[in-house]
Amino acid sequence: MITKEEIYKVIPKKILIEVIESFYLQLFNGVHGIDHWTRVLQNGIILCDKNPNLNKNIIIAFSFFHDVGRTREDDEPIHGYNGGRMLLKYKYKINLTKEEIDKCYEACVDHTHTRHHKDPQIAACWDSDRLDLYRVGVMPDVDYLNLEESKEDDIIKEAATRSWDKRPDWVIDLIQDLELGYD
Ligand SMILES: [Fe+2]
Ligand SMILES: [Fe+2]
Repeated sequence: MITKEEIYKVIPKKILIEVIESFYLQLFNGVHGIDHWTRVLQNGIILCDKNPNLNKNIIIAFSFFHDVGRTREDDEPIHGYNGGRMLLKYKYKINLTKEEIDKCYEACVDHTHTRHHKDPQIAACWDSDRLDLYRVGVMPDVDYLNLEESKEDDIIKEAATRSWDKRPDWVIDLIQDLELGYD
């Protein structure tokens, strides 16, 4: 699916640890913590496999930055902006082009309050996030999805199943390598 090495090529390990450790809320087993971020990434990778024009690097960065600025588990519209600011703070330390940074920034900032985007790279980020909505018991709604690939029945159902699944092997491997510990 994806390996930690592929992630580190975009966000070097040391930087990824720094970003993750800045998260204010519960990192494990929370609604918005690392299990959600890695499922967003998994959803995005599946969309990239279906559509090779999608950019994996943007998905990788979005998955780890979009919710990292949360300070509350409940409604907090500014968290997308906070995540975007954090991305800009690290823009010279992660391996994205200027265009990728710009798109990822927009995806982070607007993911909280914008439903659709005509740019497929930004749309793929939002769909990947929304495909994990079943973690709070909400089935992903096609009206809130953008890409045709995301709206496929099996994609939605499989993503919903993953929302309740145990961590996949690559996530266990990543968490162990980052020495974040388990709760
Ligand atoms: Fe969010
Ligand atoms: Fe999210």
